[in-house]
Amino acid sequence: MKIPIPYNHSPLELIRTRTSVRRFNGEILAGEPRRELEHCCEALKLGPFGGACRFRLVDKRSQDSGHGERVGAYGTIWGARTYLAGAAKESDHALEDFGYLFELLLLKATDLDVSSCWLGGIFSRGRFARAIGLQEGEILPAVSPIGVPTRYRSIYDRVVRWGAGSKHRKPWAELYFDARTGTPLSPDRAGPFATPLEMVRLAPSASNRQPWRCLTDGETIHFYLQRFPGYRSINATDLQRIDMGIAMSHFDLAVEIAEIEGQWRVVDPPSIQRPDAWQKAEYLVSWVRKPRGTAGRGTAGR
Ligand SMILES: Cc1cc2nc3c(=O)[nH]c(=O)nc-3n(C[C@H](O)[C@H](O)[C@H](O)COP(=O)(O)O)c2cc1C
Repeated sequence: MKIPIPYNHSPLELIRTRTSVRRFNGEILAGEPRRELEHCCEALKLGPFGGACRFRLVDKRSQDSGHGERVGAYGTIWGARTYLAGAAKESDHALEDFGYLFELLLLKATDLDVSSCWLGGIFSRGRFARAIGLQEGEILPAVSPIGVPTRYRSIYDRVVRWGAGSKHRKPWAELYFDARTGTPLSPDRAGPFATPLEMVRLAPSASNRQPWRCLTDGETIHFYLQRFPGYRSINATDLQRIDMGIAMSHFDLAVEIAEIEGQWRVVDPPSIQRPDAWQKAEYLVSWVRKPRGTAGRGTAGR
């Protein structure tokens, strides 16, 4: 899918530098960063599966008490006065579509030197639903504080990051598989997809579970969701499907920069052998490289 918003810095750099921040300076986001983010919210309407989403900045009227505000399932956000919230029209892939577009906005925030933190667990859904006028048939999968961090990470933030293992990402060998050789895929065998797959690897995910798995035959990259056992049941929202949308956005940003043309396609079922450890992984979508002289990128279709 063509990325519908502009970035001042290279998105690859933004992906590498974005990090979750949970302690802010207590100020409402204003000025140019606010205007630009609002402008980008307006530009994002449809996800890669064609589902409709909408996004808005929401301000908290008063300073929080200084005792923190419980809006996250496993994190407390301090001092944030502006949040990004969004709604997705219910559809088969609403969560992936939402994850894709919301991540583009959080990377835009990084581009504007503004910090954020995905919040998809238990937060005050009712409050945000009222603030954005949630309609019948819409869901509100996640929100994020948006603002300037305090100078130092709180001890709490450090504990949450340590608990989720936030700095760590799984190695290539665990995430990617080369169907041509029947072995794990290494960056030097990934050809033009080395950087796009590295950008997927660096993506944020709920509790840093990194559920994406990719299989390739060299031209097509098949995306699978490897669920963390028991994770779905502890959340009202299927957060790992949001994670998959985030992974797709990072992939698209990187292939666009590398000028590799192709499109998302749902191939049912992909005739490609998977490693034994992935037998339970759920197929989601494939990114199919464009053969010379045919149509370019579009929404994921059959
Ligand atoms: C879909 C999703 C939901 C998340 N929900 C929460 C949350 O409720 N509370 C929280 O503190 N962090 C949440 N996170 C942030 C992750 O813990 C964080 O992205 C991960 O540990 C990687 O760290 P990083 O963002 O600093 O790279 C969520 C992330 C994603 C992608």
